[in-house]
Amino acid sequence: MLETIFNHRSIRQYKPDPVPEEMLNQVLAAGTRASTTGNMQVYSIVVTKDEMLRKQLWEAHFKQDMVLQAPVHLTFCADFNRFNKWCRQRKANPGYDNYLSFFTAAIDALLVSQNVALAAEANGLGICYLGTATYMAEKIIQILNLPGHVVPVACISLGYPDEEPPLTDRLPLEAVVHNEKYHDYQEEDIDELYREKEESELTRDLLEENKKETLAQIFTDNRYTRKDNVHFSNEFLKVIKNQGFMNQ
Ligand SMILES: Cc1cc2nc3c(=O)[nH]c(=O)nc-3n(C[C@H](O)[C@H](O)[C@H](O)COP(=O)(O)O)c2cc1C
Repeated sequence: MLETIFNHRSIRQYKPDPVPEEMLNQVLAAGTRASTTGNMQVYSIVVTKDEMLRKQLWEAHFKQDMVLQAPVHLTFCADFNRFNKWCRQRKANPGYDNYLSFFTAAIDALLVSQNVALAAEANGLGICYLGTATYMAEKIIQILNLPGHVVPVACISLGYPDEEPPLTDRLPLEAVVHNEKYHDYQEEDIDELYREKEESELTRDLLEENKKETLAQIFTDNRYTRKDNVHFSNEFLKVIKNQGFMNQ
């Protein structure tokens, strides 16, 4: 298990070979063994293999080619629809039309997605998460016919890798671990913790390519801008409301 975890790298080039059905089912079953709030399993996984549907999803996911190339596209959804129906059919009155329930279901869905990712990698498959799942939630809801109380929170492309990219860097462990209580960062801590990342060859190339002074500016000015964040936040809040998770 640890070897699988420490070898993780996102895969963005896939072979066209299909994922054997038995393997896929085992990977999905491994997903369902994740911890889940109150054992309610308030999530769903939509498995999309159909090429026409994947073409529509590819458009929604900012035309990221993994969606077309990988033979399997998984959409992990926060889902209280099924649980609500079960409650109503059993003379129980569900109170899950609120933001906390959305967040609970989203946590459940994300735990499943990471179990699926690791189980897939343990089977020699490659995966890549797609953040566009939340950016483009409304479009994905339309394409996949998601009913009320179902919201996509993560997508993974899945298939046999056609590349072996190098491992990406991580901050040193002490950057993310706090012993006993949170210890806020002094200016010199930030300098030290980000030094290796900032001095890497990759960063030097990125700075040249993007004509920026610092790596942080590539994040704030190019990759994740305030304008985009505000726009997609508003879109996602609308989706959560439209899907019935805002105390209606
Ligand atoms: C929630 C989430 C969304 C992501 N979205 C995208 C994406 O839209 N496109 C992409 O190419 N990679 C995406 N990634 C992959 C990250 O870029 C990748 O995990 C990170 O750069 C670290 O590289 P590694 O996974 O190879 O270790 C996403 C990862 C996560 C966890």
